[in-house]
Amino acid sequence: MDFDAVLARVAEDVRPLVRQGTVASYIPRLAEVPIDRFGMAIATLDGRQFSIGDADTAFSIQSISKVFSLSMALDALGGDLWERVGREPSGSPYNSLVQLENERGIPRNPFINAGALVVADVVLSERPDGLQALLDFVRQRADNPAIAVDADVAASEAAAGYRNAALTNFIRSFGNIQQPIEAVLDFYFKQCAIAMSCEDLAQAFLHQANAGRCRRTGTQVISPIRARRINSLMLTCGTYDAAGDFAFQVGLPAKSGVGGGIAAVVPGVLALAVWSPGLDERGNSLAGAAALARFTEITGWSIF
Ligand code: DON
Repeated sequence: MDFDAVLARVAEDVRPLVRQGTVASYIPRLAEVPIDRFGMAIATLDGRQFSIGDADTAFSIQSISKVFSLSMALDALGGDLWERVGREPSGSPYNSLVQLENERGIPRNPFINAGALVVADVVLSERPDGLQALLDFVRQRADNPAIAVDADVAASEAAAGYRNAALTNFIRSFGNIQQPIEAVLDFYFKQCAIAMSCEDLAQAFLHQANAGRCRRTGTQVISPIRARRINSLMLTCGTYDAAGDFAFQVGLPAKSGVGGGIAAVVPGVLALAVWSPGLDERGNSLAGAAALARFTEITGWSIF
């Protein structure tokens, strides 16, 4: 497969979509990101990397971080995590509160905000240095020690984070948050504000394509069954209320963020990431989703 040619074709085909959609504005700092950016990177299991456009520009990974924090929470609690968070797609917007009331504070899945806040609580309960541990994990996976939290983005979200504060308080009222609300929110806003490039993300997701093993170091990062299950959650819940459409159009496990990034996995072959800040109405990158759909059309790859 000539990946340089594939990327060039994908970039050409989605060019008319770049600048479409809207940049997330409920996190004021993200509204300042230029909408005309597009980057895409591929990391293969045989050790090659391919990039196009703004693939080495760091952006706010936002909800993509929920895959990394989930790996840490599973490490801490194992299968007991599933008593505190479900594994079903919500069919609702990522920041919705409505299901929590009938479902007694157990979020539908770890990738909606409610679920990620419970995951953050689990990580913090296990290790007070949770944020540093998360950064260490991400830096090792991406093989980039310079990856850091963008403090301005974190502060910007914290200043306007009424919904996440409401979610955390509401879940706490059911007893499913144990750490102080401020600590959980601080961890969550900072994990979302981690800045990474498409190249970083493609590397950081590569073990998800390799049955949990790091190609570079040979270490088993997570067990094969856990890698498989995280991929299944990415497929069913990774793009929120667009997950069904995403499976239909793209057919790969993927995780999006309101910074405009999407990371995806072709199990046994490669990991890839795309970034373009213009979002559709469900909070997924418009050009990014189209690029992944074109990628699977051109390559014929899909898990189905
Ligand atoms: O909590 C939030 O609203 C953001 N920090 C993350 C949301 C997000 O990335 C959802 N993505 N599509």
